[in-house]
Amino acid sequence: MYKKFDAKIDALLAKMSLHDKIGQLNQPCTPLPHQVEQFKEWIRKGEIGSILMAVGATAGNDPQGAIDVDFYNELQRIAVEESPAGIPMIFGRDVIHGHRTVFPIPLAMAASFDFDLVEQSYVDVAREAANETVHWTFTPMLDLSRDPRWGRIIEGPGEDPLVGACMAKAVVKGCQGEDVSHKDRMVACAKHYIGYGAAEGGRDYHRTEISNYSLYNYYLPAFRAAAEAGVGTYMSSFNEINGQPVTSSKFYLTDVLRGQLGFEGFVVSDYGCVEQLIKQGVTDDRGEASSMAIEAGLDMDMYDFCYIENLEEQVKNGRIPESVIDTAVRRVLRLKMAKGLFEDPYCKPEKFDRNVHLAHAREMAANSMVLLKNDGVLPLKKDMNIGLIGPFINERRSLLGSWTVDGKAEETPTLLEAMTEAVEGKGKIHANVGISLDKDFTFRMADRGDVVVLALGESWARTGENKAVSDITITEDQKSLFKKVKATGKKMVGVFFCGRPIAMEGIAEYFDAILYAWHSGSETTHAVCDVLFGDVVPSGRLPVTMPRLATHIPLYYNVTPSGRPCNCYYGENPGNCYVDSYPTPYYPFGYGLSYTKFVYNDIINCANPEVSLADLEAGKTFKLSIEVANAGDYDAKELVQLYIHDPVAKMMRPMRELKAFEKTFIKKGETALVEFELGYKDLGYYTAEGDYTVEPGKIEVFIGENCLTERMTEIVIK
Ligand code: GLC
Repeated sequence: MYKKFDAKIDALLAKMSLHDKIGQLNQPCTPLPHQVEQFKEWIRKGEIGSILMAVGATAGNDPQGAIDVDFYNELQRIAVEESPAGIPMIFGRDVIHGHRTVFPIPLAMAASFDFDLVEQSYVDVAREAANETVHWTFTPMLDLSRDPRWGRIIEGPGEDPLVGACMAKAVVKGCQGEDVSHKDRMVACAKHYIGYGAAEGGRDYHRTEISNYSLYNYYLPAFRAAAEAGVGTYMSSFNEINGQPVTSSKFYLTDVLRGQLGFEGFVVSDYGCVEQLIKQGVTDDRGEASSMAIEAGLDMDMYDFCYIENLEEQVKNGRIPESVIDTAVRRVLRLKMAKGLFEDPYCKPEKFDRNVHLAHAREMAANSMVLLKNDGVLPLKKDMNIGLIGPFINERRSLLGSWTVDGKAEETPTLLEAMTEAVEGKGKIHANVGISLDKDFTFRMADRGDVVVLALGESWARTGENKAVSDITITEDQKSLFKKVKATGKKMVGVFFCGRPIAMEGIAEYFDAILYAWHSGSETTHAVCDVLFGDVVPSGRLPVTMPRLATHIPLYYNVTPSGRPCNCYYGENPGNCYVDSYPTPYYPFGYGLSYTKFVYNDIINCANPEVSLADLEAGKTFKLSIEVANAGDYDAKELVQLYIHDPVAKMMRPMRELKAFEKTFIKKGETALVEFELGYKDLGYYTAEGDYTVEPGKIEVFIGENCLTERMTEIVIK
């Protein structure tokens, strides 16, 4: 992939001192005003290869100043004109789900199951960020997570490997395009490699225990897809796996990532990971930590200056050969050349119409929202009297979600503003305009409405990095609010602005309709109105399980069967799971409603239910199809989902595995024939040694509206 640069890199390396080389592997944060002159000196000495465009460790949680392009161009000029090797720096920033135009949090985008739309979103994101000198973004975050207590579940693709793989491809392609050197593109970064989302108790940064079997079949697929999509970089993760820090693991960073996935770009550490090896207890010395990390395959050191301060001595005292440094520098230079930085190191901002991006953000948001419940009260009519209450009716900042570094809350319409605009003077919005929960005034507002819309949710500040929570719920005052409104006897529509899934027992029962609006970015509230008033028919589906109680976590759909007759996820003797509660999902993976009614034919057609293993390996596929009718009153999109279960294999296989899905538009009154092909790559699994294997035998194929569908046919691999 980067062969064309190697001759030029060889020539550069030949001219570079060891110090120059190590400088390429050093990535400090943007300097604070009082550090600028020292920073410029470091650049002049060739000691800075990249800048993390952030002033804090958790950029997504801390307000970041607007990017001063002239400032970065000046720093770049010093690197190009005044440093010994004259190598341009690569600027990286956490452009996670938007730049100035903020798109839904990634978990919400995953809920759209529309990865063409996701890719389009990141085309816009890249255009805005690259136009402000961001060469490289630290996204996609691909950490599979089964624990919504973990604050960073909002940044990832949820609990399914296939969704993770689709997200990886969409984001990498959206950011990098076919030629990442284009001025509107930026290098992507698959993070956090690997297993970060398995933190025990959902407690951020905590230890993980991941068998190789689980690694290859659950956690690695998204990262494998990123490599296949040509992602330029990976970011190593803070966590340990089974007692070994990823940061110093040759197995994960070299044997698997490069040896098995064939990755040829570079790996940047997460914030301070190299020095953290000391706290993790595998060394007591920064020099040794640096050597351990770089020989494991960790190419660039973010933030802690370990490499620049120690590696030269580590080479000179023989701890590591200079060839290890050369390998890391080669990888970094490959990406700088691929990005075109040698030809065009400076940013020349252009003006463009951001309204196109806002329109895309609105479409992405509306397609991400999940209708969890509806007794028919939705869609609303624009001439209705609507009581609009709750702490989120005037909310702006939380709608943008965590990891919003360049979005502007003040530009984000509130739900009250959007609904007032939407009813266009025909209807009436009775709102408790104060943000206080003045209960009496609130209820008067509720009472004036034909229907009550409650704007509830969780603060963005309870989500993201270092924001694990022990209870996945909404605040007690919100609960007391909806319980009191219930007493009015009015129809209640809940709009939930949450980042993570919440425990729905004791909440959902009170509502006649629930729209899960997530934290959906700059256009959240316009999109909510589009859905509430039926201009957009909801089509989002859950990429994560919505549990009844937080104490039922972890609870995920792709679980292996038990030898005992109790599988709570699928409702088999749930009483055997706990004696005091039923840990079946409140809303299962893949679940979501529409305003119309889809009817699946009971029969799954398969023209060729038997295929030999040899034919599969040669590329033959099982061809399956099903008729789905739109029997309701709205043209709409249905996510037709295909799951498999391998009932007998050498290793235990999950009871359901999502293997394909089609988001299908079906006009009201019409029937669609939805077709799927299952091939070799869909029907096997990875052994604990990382070998992909497909076994002969029967495979159960389920097709339906979510993971609990019982509609099944059998195919046979002969
Ligand atoms: C943070 C996050 C990582 C982010 C990096 C740079 O600690 O873990 O996702 O990209 O540091 O801000």
